[in-house]
Amino acid sequence: MASRKSACCRLSALEVTLVVLFITMTTVCVTLIALMVTWSTHTGPAPEGKPYLIGVGRADCTGPPADIPLMGYANPQQTAAGIHTRLYSRAFIIDDGRRRVVFVTADVGMMSQRLRLEVLQALKVKYGDLYRRDNVVLSGTHTHCGPGGYFQYTLFMISSSGYIKASIEPLVNGIVKSIDIAHSTMRPGRIYRGSGELGDSSLNRSPQSYLNNPAAERHRYRWSTDKEVVVLKFTDLDGDGIGMLSWFAVHAVSMNYTNRMVSSDNMGYASYLLERDKNPGELPGQGGFVAGFSSSNLGDVSPNTRGPHCVNSGLSCDYLNSSCPVGGTKMCKAFGPGDDMFDSTRIIGHNIYRKAKEIYASAAQQVTGSLQSAHQWVNMTDVTVQVNDTHTVTTCKPALGHSFAAGTTDGGGDLNFTQGAVEGDPFWDGIRDTLVGEPSNQTQECHRPKPILFSTGEMNWPLPWHPQIVDVQIITIGSVAIVAVPGEITTMSGRRLREAVKQELRSEGAFRDSVVVIAGLSNVYTHYITTYEEYQVQRYEGASTIYGPHTLTAYLHKYRGLARAIAQDRVSELPVGPEPPFFQENLINLLPAAPVDRKPENTSFGDVLEQVYPVYRPGDVVSVTFVAGNPRHSGDIRDKTFVTVEIYDNRTETWEVVHTDASWETRFHWLKGSNRQSNSTVEWHIPPAAPSGFYRIRHFGHYKQMKGLRPVITPYGGSSDVFRVAASFYYQ
Ligand SMILES: *[C@@H]1O[C@H](CO)[C@@H](O)[C@H](O)[C@H]1NC(C)=O
Ligand SMILES: *[C@@H]1O[C@H](CO)[C@@H](O)[C@H](O)[C@H]1NC(C)=O
Ligand SMILES: *[C@@H]1O[C@H](CO)[C@@H](O)[C@H](O)[C@H]1NC(C)=O
Ligand SMILES: *[C@@H]1O[C@H](CO)[C@@H](O)[C@H](O)[C@H]1NC(C)=O
Ligand SMILES: *[C@@H]1O[C@H](CO)[C@@H](O)[C@H](O)[C@H]1NC(C)=O
Ligand SMILES: *[C@@H]1O[C@H](CO)[C@@H](O)[C@H](O)[C@H]1NC(C)=O
Ligand SMILES: *[C@@H]1O[C@H](CO)[C@@H](O)[C@H](O)[C@H]1NC(C)=O
Ligand SMILES: *[C@@H]1O[C@H](CO)[C@@H](O)[C@H](O)[C@H]1NC(C)=O
Ligand SMILES: *[C@@H]1O[C@H](CO)[C@@H](O)[C@H](O)[C@H]1NC(C)=O
Repeated sequence: MASRKSACCRLSALEVTLVVLFITMTTVCVTLIALMVTWSTHTGPAPEGKPYLIGVGRADCTGPPADIPLMGYANPQQTAAGIHTRLYSRAFIIDDGRRRVVFVTADVGMMSQRLRLEVLQALKVKYGDLYRRDNVVLSGTHTHCGPGGYFQYTLFMISSSGYIKASIEPLVNGIVKSIDIAHSTMRPGRIYRGSGELGDSSLNRSPQSYLNNPAAERHRYRWSTDKEVVVLKFTDLDGDGIGMLSWFAVHAVSMNYTNRMVSSDNMGYASYLLERDKNPGELPGQGGFVAGFSSSNLGDVSPNTRGPHCVNSGLSCDYLNSSCPVGGTKMCKAFGPGDDMFDSTRIIGHNIYRKAKEIYASAAQQVTGSLQSAHQWVNMTDVTVQVNDTHTVTTCKPALGHSFAAGTTDGGGDLNFTQGAVEGDPFWDGIRDTLVGEPSNQTQECHRPKPILFSTGEMNWPLPWHPQIVDVQIITIGSVAIVAVPGEITTMSGRRLREAVKQELRSEGAFRDSVVVIAGLSNVYTHYITTYEEYQVQRYEGASTIYGPHTLTAYLHKYRGLARAIAQDRVSELPVGPEPPFFQENLINLLPAAPVDRKPENTSFGDVLEQVYPVYRPGDVVSVTFVAGNPRHSGDIRDKTFVTVEIYDNRTETWEVVHTDASWETRFHWLKGSNRQSNSTVEWHIPPAAPSGFYRIRHFGHYKQMKGLRPVITPYGGSSDVFRVAASFYYQ
């Protein structure tokens, strides 16, 4: 020791000089770098480099995970029965000192007009005129595993058991809460944009329709789906990330219609992963960093990347009608990329997350400039557009074609409808005429070549079956234009729309470097929007283009108008258009009240019916079954959990929650038996990195019983036995 010490201190004069010189040089360099950093962050290309005020917020919007049909596949058997992952609303508010815009992406199948109107009403009560129809965009991720029941038009009420207060309230309150949080956390910050291509995660599911677009147009694009991931990165003035918002075009249907658990599907999983990275140590749904993955022009885009085949014969499905030689459409299903739907959700979600994270890390192009928002209500049933000197085209009253009932290769219908039908079927037309009436000749003519199955624009009992008044809206954040589209727009339609908007914006200097993104499933749901050429093929998407063959032409016209008004700073001159109805009467509710709960003799609610094993290894699945009540009795479940996985901390002698029902690793299945008895099975898919230790799984809920004539709802809880997770397995 001693010798080492003396060696250390025996520095020659030369060495000392060198060290001093080195330190001096380093100081100079650090000072220079600091100066450069200061210069680049504080002097920027003024005055455009002025920071925005930015707020981000996330709130739980999960509705009742029981009995209510999940919104998406329109499969009456697919009612909610548990939770795989929770649903969140994610809000981003930006203010340039003069104007303010709000973008919300929520884990819902789609926004509905009713949901938007109720959200806007609630915002008005809280904030007066700060958040309005024109500066708030609400977009859905298009998960097909969220509870329905938040619509006011009859077709959607029928397919989701009506207008259900218990279902729409958590959505309204969750969306508003995400905006509240964003509002209360606003601080000066900066925005950067970036983009990149993501392969192996999407596939065009109606190639026959896509190929009907003009060859010259198709040849301008390498792929039949858009592969671009667009990212906005939000930072504070220190450059620390506070949030990310991205868009990618793919259906959130990695979970198929056999799944009964509420799930945010692939897009929600991408949010989950990025938020987990950026909020280390937090449980899912917690932490300040908010990562929104928003839907885009996904109309004809499937995540089932292995494509369709006949599940009975292994043969390929018919190219035009997606039908199998034996068993018809029902046998033709698309799969992949994973071993099962959970694995597929994981792979697609992870791909989107990985690409967005990479773009986020390198996003360098700063977004500067003022904010604008333009919005109109349009009566889509009679928009007339002059296409050239001699011709005008007009939209139609809404109607769905025969191929609508065929469904898609991501989830087919049960009946014998096939895609690509340009002629009606006398059998079904007869039934239709008897039940709901014959389409008028005028509507049939207008929709040609679509054979009309339901002339929803002519069906008004007990309320109109489809909306007539539709929101068109664009918000711009400096050079970034977000086009809020009220439905599922196909790849090529989306490209045409982006181009039209870009062209109008770029006609004015301030917008010459604009990027245009499409935010799908926004504001009001009107099914699909295809190109005129795709419409002629009448696959599912064409049959579901409800305002007829010129739907896209009408939208192009309307959105061009909005973009022009923005570019010329004349937004205030835009006519507001006809206000959509807010129905107070005749809303239907087909969902019976949840009945009282029964339990097996000599048990209590929360008792374990099937116990855990004593020891598990990472990668195993722990399963425990409890005597349960109907989860609908738990009322507003936002920010609560039906499940915890807890680890015992020997140091503090306490149980620490490591997972909730929002965790990817947990699955909460609610099994409804006959006789009003039900049970909850909780699975924990132990991740490979789970620490060794002692664990328990707990379940919480409520049950209903009658006390005399009065229903009484009581909370309950239960716990599994303590079990061990051992990285290496000892047989004892
Ligand atoms: C689907 O199209 C094929 C020909 O391409 C035809 O043979 C078959 O009958 C059609 N299936 C149905 C159910 O229409
Ligand atoms: C749904 O996915 C499961 C695997 O997770 C698979 O067994 C089933 O066949 C799929 N069903 C449909 C309709 O795609
Ligand atoms: C939409 O326009 C049609 C045709 O002009 C009209 O009959 C209908 O009443 C309008 N709808 C609403 C809700 O204003
Ligand atoms: C105008 O448009 C219609 C419909 O697209 C087309 O049939 C017609 O040829 C066009 N006329 C002129 C003069 O371009
Ligand atoms: C569908 O089934 C009905 C009843 O069996 C039959 O009359 C009809 O022709 C079928 N349609 C097609 C397209 O196969
Ligand atoms: C449609 O037109 C045909 C022939 O002109 C007529 O016989 C039929 O009654 C009309 N249908 C409706 C629903 O108006
Ligand atoms: C319930 O408990 C009672 C009293 O201990 C017993 O007599 C009865 O057999 C039990 N019933 C069942 C199904 O275990
Ligand atoms: C932690 O506590 C459990 C249960 O009390 C005990 O069996 C175990 O040996 C303890 N583990 C350690 C690492 O101290
Ligand atoms: C849970 O409930 C389901 C549906 O009633 C039933 O099939 C199953 O056997 C029950 N499990 C247990 C452990 O009681």
